[in-house]
This record gives sequence, C-alpha cells and structure tokens, in this order.
Amino acid sequence: MEADKLNRNREIFQKISPNDKKEIKVILKSFEKDNINIISILQKIQERYRYIPPHFIFYLSKKLNIPPAEIYSVATFYTQFRFNEIGKYEIVCCDGTACHVKGIRPMITFLEKILGITPGETTEDKMFSLESVACLGCCAISPVCIINGKIYGNLTTNKIRLLLKRIAKEDNE
Ligand code: FES
Repeated sequence: MEADKLNRNREIFQKISPNDKKEIKVILKSFEKDNINIISILQKIQERYRYIPPHFIFYLSKKLNIPPAEIYSVATFYTQFRFNEIGKYEIVCCDGTACHVKGIRPMITFLEKILGITPGETTEDKMFSLESVACLGCCAISPVCIINGKIYGNLTTNKIRLLLKRIAKEDNE
C-alpha cells in the first residue's frame, strides 16, 4: 500500500516539468505560508496557464499539505476555474434569450462546422476554443460573442466568418 502511494506520488511529480515546478514555486512564494489562500493560488495558476492542469492539484496538495479533495472542491465550486486547456482564441457565444431570438444559433452551428468542435471543446491545434453561455449582459447589441475578452455585437454569420479570417491573417503575421 505504502509502495503504491509512493509510486503514485512519484508519477505526479514526474508529470510536472521542471519549468512548471519553478513557476509554481514562484507563485507559492508570493503567499505567506500560514496565510495560504487556495483561491488566489489557483487564480495565479490560471492566469499563467489559462486553465488549471488537473495534475497540479496533486502537486499543490503535496506542497501545501492540504488534501487534494479540498483543493479540488474549492476549484470546482467557483465557475471561474477551468480544467481544460483552452485555445489561443477563446470564442464565447451568448445563447441567452435575446441572442437566441436574434439568431445566434445558426452562428454557433457555423462555428461548430468551420472549427470542427462543439461548445466546450478546443481544436486539436489548440488555436480555438468554443463556449456557449447564458446572457452576457449586453442584450442591446445581440447577438453577441466574446473573443479573448473582446465583445462583438450585432453579429451575423458573415461577420463571424470575416472575424475568423482576420484572426487567421493576424496570427500568421
Ligand atoms: S441574451 Fe445575449 S447578451 Fe443577453
């Protein structure tokens, strides 16, 4: 049993690259040892990696001497944390009532078709992630999508097509 545990711990530590270990060390160093704030640590990790690599939970658990389940339950309680790697471009489409009425659905279908993914997924080349969410709070300019934090309103399928074209062009420059 003890040997199993040791092997598991070894596997977890091996999964973390030396670089990631260094990054986590820097993040942890910025917090007082007896004032450990799991939320802030997770926020810093997500800021750096754009998601929480699930195996980091075990590494943090070992480093902070906190059970993985405790860290995991904090991370899953807050919707701000994600465990899947997202693409370089994150497209979040509003599927709320106003956007729905103004025709966001065919646009989401268009994105699904052109990117080959459904909401919640990331393209294999890690370029695009697609999400659909409830009202983004800017119904006056519906239908709305947010790409890497920038709001695009009054969208049409053609506008989305042009946006993707522009992103691809700028990304190649
Ligand atoms: S329903 Fe889409 S922004 Fe409100």
